Amino acid sequence: MNYYVMTLFPEMIEQGMNTSIIGRAMAKGLLTLTTLNIREYSVRGDGRIDDYPYGGGAGMVMQAEPVCRTYESLSEQLGYRPRLIYLTPQGRVFNQQMAKEFAQEKDLVFLCGHYEGIDERVLEEIATDFVSIGDYVLTGGELPSMVMMDSISRMVPGVLSNQESGETESFAGNLLEYPQYSRPEVWRGKAVPPVLLSGHHGNVDRWRRDQSLYRTLKSRPDLMEDVVLDKKDRKFLQMVTDQPEMEGEYPITEEEARFLRKLLAIRKKT
Ligand code: ADE
Repeated sequence: MNYYVMTLFPEMIEQGMNTSIIGRAMAKGLLTLTTLNIREYSVRGDGRIDDYPYGGGAGMVMQAEPVCRTYESLSEQLGYRPRLIYLTPQGRVFNQQMAKEFAQEKDLVFLCGHYEGIDERVLEEIATDFVSIGDYVLTGGELPSMVMMDSISRMVPGVLSNQESGETESFAGNLLEYPQYSRPEVWRGKAVPPVLLSGHHGNVDRWRRDQSLYRTLKSRPDLMEDVVLDKKDRKFLQMVTDQPEMEGEYPITEEEARFLRKLLAIRKKT
């Protein structure tokens, strides 16, 4: 995977991407990162790339020409026009499925905006994807591009030392990950769940699956709609639903119980 980041702050990207798993993958040659400084493509004597917005209003707008020249210089080098992701709170909200899809590309270009945005006309010409990393506004596209590169890179073969970890963790199968524990067995009076010490792999797997279902129900019920539930999953969720409110091992609220009853009724039919 080759990443190209069009930015006004290349050092921010380079420093952010040089460590840990991503840094190691770059050293191994599994990933490459090239920053393209939009300022170098300024068409004005003073080296500036922003100007006032037509129609008035606060802030400055990044001009079309320097942005376009940065992209054209890259596409000439590559011999084709690669996919270009413009980071914007107005884009489609990034998720694991999109990370997997982007990981199939050979080259990916990220365009980081600043100020009040970028002249719409150049976006029409060069942007193939508009992506947001969540419903909040940041000062620029650099952090969002790094968030995306981090999660896309994990999907590139060889980047994770244990390929399996990409499969079992949060969002695989639309469920959140189960809790993990390590030594000591008792930490400040808190014991590790006994099933994990039992050595019974079947029971451990079932407990982890139940934990994933319960966590997803509690934190991200929206994800539950698309989870494939087998007979044992439904049995577990039925047990959780039938518990008296806020009692037992898996406490739920009345609202969560209503949600589960509806979900289980639908799943019985399908
Ligand atoms: N630029 C500013 N805020 C952003 C966000 N939430 N996602 C992507 N790009 C952004």
